[in-house]
Amino acid sequence: MQSVTIQNLTFDEYLSASEIASIVKEVANRINTDYAGREPLFICVLNGAFIYASDLFKCINLPAEITFVRLKSYEGTATSGKVNTLIPLQTSVKDRDIIIIEDIVDTGLTMHGFMQYLKEEGARSVELTSFLFKPDAIKYPDATPKYIGKSIPTKFVVGYGLDVDEKGRNLDSLYVLHPEE
Ligand code: IMP
Ligand code: MG
Repeated sequence: MQSVTIQNLTFDEYLSASEIASIVKEVANRINTDYAGREPLFICVLNGAFIYASDLFKCINLPAEITFVRLKSYEGTATSGKVNTLIPLQTSVKDRDIIIIEDIVDTGLTMHGFMQYLKEEGARSVELTSFLFKPDAIKYPDATPKYIGKSIPTKFVVGYGLDVDEKGRNLDSLYVLHPEE
């Protein structure tokens, strides 16, 4: 098995680049079918989702658009669900069919807040695709993605856009933290 070391931690290969490519293609096919006749607006959530968004968007055969947002979530004791916007949306979502693109949904906090915001801004529909989903970690079930690339155990992963302290995003495979780390 192929391993990499990032920030002094060992990670083992979990999904190869070709496995990732077929997962992405499958998700895109489902979206192409479900949104036939519509013009969805994709919203890529920076930073982690930029590689998945790029690969997915190339497989979309609809008259789709894409825009970007950068979010940071805070889990305050009294303010759960609060999402701070670092780079705001530049495109109106009013009356649009929105498909949010995420790299990974863990507790769902970030997406819970953002999906609520898009509905308040007048989006016609809001759905979520995430390359990865950790079903055992979810705390906000309304943030469960409709279009999931792969559900994974609650373990730390890196590569394909996902980082450990901002490193490892450029790996073209996905890696999981070695069990002894
Ligand atoms: P949530 O709001 O708890 O769902 O957190 C989602 C965010 O946490 C993701 O967008 C990632 O930035 C980060 N995250 C969660 N799990 C991992 C992981 O295994 N590797 C890298 N980043 C992760
Ligand atoms: Mg992210």
